[in-house]
Amino acid sequence: MSTKMVALSFTLFACACSNGPSAVGDGASGSGPLASSGSAGISQVGGAASGSAAGGASSSLGGASMAGAGGPGGTASGAGTSAGGAGSAGGASNAGSTGVAGGTSGTSGAGGGSVIDATCGGTNGTATNLKDKYAGCFPIGAAVDSQSYMTHGPILKAHFNSVVAENDMKFNALEPNEGSFTYTNADKIVDFASSNSMKVRGHTLVWHSQNPSWLFTGATKDTLIARMKNHIKNVVQHYKGKVYAWDVVNEAIMEDGSYRSGSGDEDKKSHWYEIIGPSYIAEAFRAAHEADPNAKLFYNDFYDYIPAKQQGIYTMLKGLLADGVPVHGVGMQCHLNIEPSTKTDNQGYYQSVENLEKAIVLYSSLGLEVQVTELDLSLYIPGVSYTKDTFYTAATFTDALELKQANRYQAFFELFRRHRNVITGVTFWGIADDNTWLSEFDSGRKDFPLLFDNNHQPKKAFDAVMNF
Ligand code: G3I
Repeated sequence: MSTKMVALSFTLFACACSNGPSAVGDGASGSGPLASSGSAGISQVGGAASGSAAGGASSSLGGASMAGAGGPGGTASGAGTSAGGAGSAGGASNAGSTGVAGGTSGTSGAGGGSVIDATCGGTNGTATNLKDKYAGCFPIGAAVDSQSYMTHGPILKAHFNSVVAENDMKFNALEPNEGSFTYTNADKIVDFASSNSMKVRGHTLVWHSQNPSWLFTGATKDTLIARMKNHIKNVVQHYKGKVYAWDVVNEAIMEDGSYRSGSGDEDKKSHWYEIIGPSYIAEAFRAAHEADPNAKLFYNDFYDYIPAKQQGIYTMLKGLLADGVPVHGVGMQCHLNIEPSTKTDNQGYYQSVENLEKAIVLYSSLGLEVQVTELDLSLYIPGVSYTKDTFYTAATFTDALELKQANRYQAFFELFRRHRNVITGVTFWGIADDNTWLSEFDSGRKDFPLLFDNNHQPKKAFDAVMNF
């Protein structure tokens, strides 16, 4: 495993709090329209939450208010309605949500006409696989590699109707040398998907990570823009009509809402921003649209539940749309944990259903689609230090822990289902626990974050998202 991987893992599990110097509009330092103080609706696992988006200060949000979703063991309270939302998100309902502890399901509240129904799996007891269960809601995807059709073929075909390449469509994979494109592995994924009627998401065209060394070497602003455009043009045209949606730009915003800039640790800084400035984002979207006008173009990022970060993303997207940049959706990665951090100085502290709901409401108020793009649910709690003797094993992944994981999955799926009017895809970052990036640690730390176990058998988490 590479140093980069260790560092990235640290980013996701610990607190990546670096403050980039460059502000994203008025979202910098968390002082955007929603001025997220973090006080509304933030609850820990087990707590009932009720909160409202602060102040309705954003005109495009139309003063949406949200009722809290009950965490595992909690109860839902309140019945909020979102009034007069703009764009396609208008009237997205945030009515009282379902308590899920112990697998008991409540009812979705009234408020926006968003009642769980047979077309979205809610009462469809006959479905036995994920893709049928959620057929009325959204496609169910999995991150794969070029061997997955052999290593995980049966469950992949049985449960998923969408795939994304976990690594094989990244810049270093597709253009390892300038002007020389290597599509072999990615093509295997696309061919498998097309023979099995699966949709394909493309991940990712422009990212600060996993780039070939030649890309930034000796680059001026003009040469880097030219290299970026050439890459996007070749890749997007190669997959025209086969890849329906692209993560065009990945992880450009920091946790405080500022742009990921050219300063800070090497593995976290963006050479794109450093050399081109923030305009690289608009340039990338325009190039992708030119290469395939029918592809849906997404901005993709993690930690969407952090108030300042979701505000920064919102402000950036609003600016792009105002400038006529072809952005169609937002990808929320959703690398989740079994419970939020209890430490207020850890970004995982904000990881609640209700905070993620705020992101969905905020993004969709711009008329954008929302997708869950990299879903998994780690057993490890952010901010906690684990020693080798506390790493989970098959033996210590107890029934109780499995149930806890299942309940948390169900709580988030309840949220996704409730917002199915704007959520157009839910993709897991892997297929089964035997192959997950979360276990790719030098330390040998094993994780169990998906719906299927090491032997590709359904876990309690699978039952939890199927049986409610
Ligand atoms: O392909 C090489 C292989 O040849 C070599 O033998 C091996 C030894 O280390 O490394 C292999 O490359 C690794 C690659 O995964 C494929 O397994 C890289 O070192 C490793 O860094 C890379 O990790 C990927 C990571 O992105 C890179 O930053 C993870 O698999 C992948 O799950 C992860 O995915 C990211 C998303 O793209 C963006 N959002 C966060 C998400 C999780 O970190």
